[in-house]
Amino acid sequence: MVKKKEDVTENHEDGEIEIEDLPGVGPMTADKLRDAGYDTIMSIAVAPTSELSESSGMSAASATKAQIAARNAMDMGFITGTELVERRKTIERMTTGSEDFDGLLGGGIETQSITEAFGEFGSGKSQLAMMLAITCQLPKKDGGLNRDILFIDTENTFRPERITQMCETRGLNPKKILSRIMVARAYTSDHQMLLVDKVDEVINKHGKDIGLIIVDSLMSLFRSEYAGRGTLAVRQQKLNRHLHSLQRMADKHNLAIYLTNQVQSNPAVFFGNPTKAIGGHILGHASQFRIYLRKGKAGKRVARLVDSPYLPEGEIIFNITEKGIDEA
Ligand code: GTP
Ligand code: MG
Repeated sequence: MVKKKEDVTENHEDGEIEIEDLPGVGPMTADKLRDAGYDTIMSIAVAPTSELSESSGMSAASATKAQIAARNAMDMGFITGTELVERRKTIERMTTGSEDFDGLLGGGIETQSITEAFGEFGSGKSQLAMMLAITCQLPKKDGGLNRDILFIDTENTFRPERITQMCETRGLNPKKILSRIMVARAYTSDHQMLLVDKVDEVINKHGKDIGLIIVDSLMSLFRSEYAGRGTLAVRQQKLNRHLHSLQRMADKHNLAIYLTNQVQSNPAVFFGNPTKAIGGHILGHASQFRIYLRKGKAGKRVARLVDSPYLPEGEIIFNITEKGIDEA
């Protein structure tokens, strides 16, 4: 008896199904889907149907059919509270370089989460990025993960000289540290998204043990490419996909994501903070830790935790020195 392709689970008893196993997905459609970042059954099951058909050339009806099969084939992601406790036990933290700052974040930057720093120019977002590219490599006893870094640089502000300076003042070997930071300059938002889609390859093919992905800055390319009013919806849709790929990497490889973000002034606010992060609700919901950075008195910096799933809001003061992020 010929098996109908709809029964995708029957073909693979181990549950490992490829996207080609979905009805209506031939090798060419599969290639197109992969190019658009839909490389797993899960990603297809949860994608907006319109986006699936658009990126693959499938009709809306075929896309829906493939999607229903994908949903039937997979465990939809319900896990028990007990399993969740187990998964959360594997979360690790890396230091920011300042004890107060770590305290604000409940012990440092977390794996399996997206941490976003926003603030005006010179507030320290990129300095923190470069600092984390160092601390992630430290041995666990020194507050690190002893793992490598992927640094996506969209503004050409990554400075190896600054890394070297931070290392030397901290008694670390700059050559060794720099050799474990993989920097990719992104030239367009599509390029930026593609780089994240290549993370699996970097990890699986090149055997890199990535503990942290940095995107500095998340929005600059999106912002300049989608400047017109009419393009906002498209921008947000792409941003949403980008953030989902990042979160997927964080969960799959138990790694941390650090994003920097710009601000815009919010004329509606008369009291309190007149600036707000760009990126809208999509970004607001995607980042588990949002840190607002601003310049304080005498060169000091203030970090405020704005949105966190379980930590109280709070504010601390830190310093930017030769050592990088430092105690106030
Ligand atoms: P934009 O990317 O422009 O939005 O800003 P940003 O928030 O990324 O700023 P960044 O992290 O690059 O901070 C720049 C600031 O860090 C400078 O204005 C300096 O105050 C400080 N800084 C940078 N390098 C050094 C250094 O070597 N020593 C000291 N003491 N401070 C530094
Ligand atoms: Mg910067």
